[in-house]
Amino acid sequence: MTWTRTGVRADELREEAPRGVTIGERAIVLLRQDGTVLAVEGACPHLGGDLADGTVERGQLTCPLHGAVFDVATGEVRADPFGLVPPEGGVGPLAVYPARVVGTEVEVDL
Ligand code: FES
Repeated sequence: MTWTRTGVRADELREEAPRGVTIGERAIVLLRQDGTVLAVEGACPHLGGDLADGTVERGQLTCPLHGAVFDVATGEVRADPFGLVPPEGGVGPLAVYPARVVGTEVEVDL
């Protein structure tokens, strides 16, 4: 367990507004969902779309490249690329990382 500072204040995060950060070489997306701070990998597991440019609605993050949809809390695939529902294995789940707020700053366990 390695808690890593992100340099992002928790009060900067808005509901349904993904915020990309780079920690080391790793792209991470921070989100606020129902008041809770969450962290997921920033590169789509399909073909690497930048999920910081994705859209979040009702707890689901949509990739801006081909439209795969992921649950932001669990990383589960809700729709394959090109919006195929139910998903049939066209993309793997999104990595989800523990996140916490220490003082005012978000930390992620990588
Ligand atoms: S890169 Fe994300 S759905 Fe293709």
